[in-house]
Parts: sequence; structure tokens; C-alpha cells
Amino acid sequence: MDFLQTAKNVDEYIEGHLIGADPVLDLIAQDSEAAGLVPHSVTPLQARFLAMMVSVVDARRVLEVGCLGGYSAVAMARALPESGQLITTEIDTRTAKIAQQNIDRSGFGDRIELKVGPALPTIDAMLEDGDVFDLVFIDADKVNHANYLEAALQLARVGTIIIADNVIRGGAVTDSESQENSVKGVRAMFELAATLKNVEMTALQTVGAKGYDGFAIFRVTEV
Ligand code: DHB
Ligand code: MG
Repeated sequence: MDFLQTAKNVDEYIEGHLIGADPVLDLIAQDSEAAGLVPHSVTPLQARFLAMMVSVVDARRVLEVGCLGGYSAVAMARALPESGQLITTEIDTRTAKIAQQNIDRSGFGDRIELKVGPALPTIDAMLEDGDVFDLVFIDADKVNHANYLEAALQLARVGTIIIADNVIRGGAVTDSESQENSVKGVRAMFELAATLKNVEMTALQTVGAKGYDGFAIFRVTEV
């Protein structure tokens, strides 16, 4: 059996023991697939990790860049207090419609605001409003990974956690010759990260139900 199949089986085993049925997220996954969305949501175990991060930092305001079907948005919003707010962005209007339906049905729609359109102008408007976030999850097009990180840092306070998905790309991240725009985008993010002062950072390679990839995690120590 190949390694990625083994990793899938292990995710299934762990999910069975640590998560079990999750009717709210399971329905979002089902309906996203039925609607033909790309299967790029985080896994159930990764969603639980993101939710735990929201809890650990006692987040009140969360920003997600890249909503897709709303799977991770709902997972994180569930970990917010009732007065908390999660803002998520989606560039594709058809995808956003499906996401909005999923969000409305989840029972957590009161805590989630979906902003339709490209993320960077949306973020610029939030910057002008002086918005600050406790946690930012970057999971949109990988081409702009560095731009999203830069923007997230501007929306941060001391202690803000920024998590960027898909920073390993099956190992392709180390390929300096890669012609893939997503790999170039992720590498640009690491180049930017290397210049950052006042940010603690690490990256964790992940392997599981959705293959081999990883999270970069940043903690702002000074603004
Ligand atoms: C892709 C995007 C994602 O956000 C993800 O988690 C996996 C793959 C992609 O565009 O290939
Ligand atoms: Mg992703």
C-alpha cells in the first residue's frame, strides 16, 4: 500500500476515535461535493485543529481568506463565543452562493460574514476601517500567499495567530525551478517570512486524508 493511502487510513482511524460523526460539517462536505466544488477543504482533523486554535487564543474576531464551501469557516466559528465574528472572503460568486447556503444551514450564520470578491481589496477596506483580528486563516489562491500574509500582519495585534494552509505542496515547495504559480506563491510567502521581525513562526508538514501538505503558523509578538 502506498504511503498516501496509509495516511488516509490513519486519518479515518483517528477521526473515528477523536471526532466521530459531525452532522454540521459532514453536511457541508457532502453538499460542497454535490455542488461540484473542488475538494480542497481542510480535513476534519485539520478543522478541529483550527477550531482548537480559535479556543486557545480566546479569539473574538477571526478572518478567513478563501471560503470555498464554508467548511473551515463553520468549524472555526463554532469555537467562537456567541458575540464573536468570523469574516470570510470568496472570490467566486457561484462558490459563494453555495457557501452562504452551507453557512446559513449550519446554525452559526449569525457569527459569519461572507464577503464576496477578491480578498485583497476586501482586506484593504478592512484596513481602512481599522479592523483587527485575533486569528487569520489564509487558504485562498496560493499565488497571493505572500500578499495575504502581508495583509494579515497589518490586521494583527500582539498575539494574533496567522495560519497559512498548503505551504508544502507535496514537497514541491523546495523546488526553486518550479514553474507552478502556486509553488512560486508559497515560496514567495516563505521569502517574506524570512524577513519578518517580531513574528514567531513555524511550519508543520501535514499528511492525511487530503495528501501531503502543511500549515505555516505565525504569532505576532510586536506591532
Ligand atoms: C489546493 C488548494 C487548497 O486550499 C488545498 O487545501 C489543497 C489544494 C489547490 O488549489 O490545489
Ligand atoms: Mg487549503
